Amino acid sequence: MRTRMNGKIAIAAFVGQTARSIMSKRFYITTAIDYVNGQPHLGHAYEKIVADVIARSRRSLGQEVFFLTGLDEHGQKVQQAAQAEKKDPQEYCDALAADWLAFAKKLELTNDDFVRTTEPRHKEFVQAILSKLNDAGHFYKASYKGFYSAKEETFLTEKDRRPDGTFDPSYGEVVELLEENYYFKLGAHQQWLIEFIEKNPAFVQPDYRRNEVLGFLKNNTLEDLCISRPVTRLNWGIPLPFDKDFVTYVWFDALVNYISIAAAHGDETILAKAESGRRKAEIELWPADVHVIGKDILKFHAVYWPIMLKAMELPLPKQILVHGWWQKDGAKISKSTGNIVDPVAVIDEWGLDAFRFYVLRELDIGPDGNWTDAGFRARYSAELANGLGNLVNRSLSMLKRYRNGIVPAKSDELAAFAAKAADETRALLKQNQLQAALQSIWSLVTRANQYVDQTAPFKLAKDPAQSKRLDEVLYNLAETCRVLAVLIQPFLPGTAVKIYTQLGLTESPDKFSEAVWGKLEPGHKIGEPSPLFPRKDV
Ligand code: MSP
Repeated sequence: MRTRMNGKIAIAAFVGQTARSIMSKRFYITTAIDYVNGQPHLGHAYEKIVADVIARSRRSLGQEVFFLTGLDEHGQKVQQAAQAEKKDPQEYCDALAADWLAFAKKLELTNDDFVRTTEPRHKEFVQAILSKLNDAGHFYKASYKGFYSAKEETFLTEKDRRPDGTFDPSYGEVVELLEENYYFKLGAHQQWLIEFIEKNPAFVQPDYRRNEVLGFLKNNTLEDLCISRPVTRLNWGIPLPFDKDFVTYVWFDALVNYISIAAAHGDETILAKAESGRRKAEIELWPADVHVIGKDILKFHAVYWPIMLKAMELPLPKQILVHGWWQKDGAKISKSTGNIVDPVAVIDEWGLDAFRFYVLRELDIGPDGNWTDAGFRARYSAELANGLGNLVNRSLSMLKRYRNGIVPAKSDELAAFAAKAADETRALLKQNQLQAALQSIWSLVTRANQYVDQTAPFKLAKDPAQSKRLDEVLYNLAETCRVLAVLIQPFLPGTAVKIYTQLGLTESPDKFSEAVWGKLEPGHKIGEPSPLFPRKDV
């Protein structure tokens, strides 16, 4: 009996060990979580698509991925928006969250989870972290007297005054307040953070954003961060576990989503640090590989967040990838002036892949971008309809017409060019260089379209003596279409599937390893060609 028991225990221990050692770290990518105080717009869509393309690229390259996005539901902005509609904040969030979830579906995001910061799994985790940090002496309570802008949800400083001593009307009503709050000791970590960012050039990308953070850290003394709001002033937040008169400052709550959700999935690293009654680890996510964010929230991610993690004794994310802001027709996107792009309307009219293509091809990750309807139409027509669409349609239509849809013998005239485009694309995807990857892929589209013009298969078809040459041309074109489907899959997933279907392939074009020449087998029968991007007369 005793031996059997021991045997069982030994087996259990062994199984546990094996489970842990075969668990491999996933590529963990996150987006900013959006405030639920209105409907999603172009800027939100862009960021989520960037993250989705990176997630899909990594999966295609063979990595296991965890992609997280979601909503930031607490704080004054959301409370005020709910009040304006005379709704209870939770009901208000629940109604809007349904719209945002539908929006994520519309964009065909491949997120593995969708966080809402009002969920118990997040709130409980935030409270556990707050208790730990408080016990470890990272917080203190102090009173602060100053001029407070409710609209901006912040205390203003002398620097915010105009030359005549008044505050800009954009701050709304400014009142002098004396308030007690809890503060997080940030200042002590300033030098450590400067050194960390200097030693880790990839931590904030692009480089000019990294320099911006370093400039800020070197030229300012970090003030301690106020991490609470008195319930008398704001009650829509997570209560501080050690003082019921306060709720958690919305940014302290929001940033923690990146680890609360990892913990909810059983992340090994977070559970080891953050949970006292430790559950069984199920996944390895932390540290995040990439936090995709916009330029306006850089300080929160590159200054406050690393210091919060250091205080929790957790490793820092590997990269904060900072994108720019979209304007429309050279002016700020704004609901009040009506200067907006409605992503849903564009998708309904032109298709999701056309929208995804335009935002990624037009704007590199970093600088600001400018949406124009004319620019959108021009890219649709030149690069999608006349570029990729025309190539696939004429290649497959000719194969159908001249060879009854049967793939001829292999030929490798375009193989070297296709291999070069695939190698470049692979390298660029690994560096999250999405715009450059699209350029590289389109160099193959252009090359193959030139090839059609140069080889003129429609002329070859008229001359029976050129039958072998026509076979070669048709193979090169069909195989290029197949390779292109694999290369574009992270960017234009629907189009990639359509190309595979038209080629009569039943697999999914989502493995980069398939982007090697010569996989299309002679004798295989393709499906029905049909236009990928219908031309629009506009
Ligand atoms: N809730 C915070 C983020 C918390 S992350 C822990 C927030 N929300 S937001 O809804 O205002 O913005 C969400 C994201 O959308 C940010 O990364 C922001 O930069 C991005 N964008 C908002 N407007 C944008 C454009 N016009 N263009 C591109 N991105 C923009 O900040």
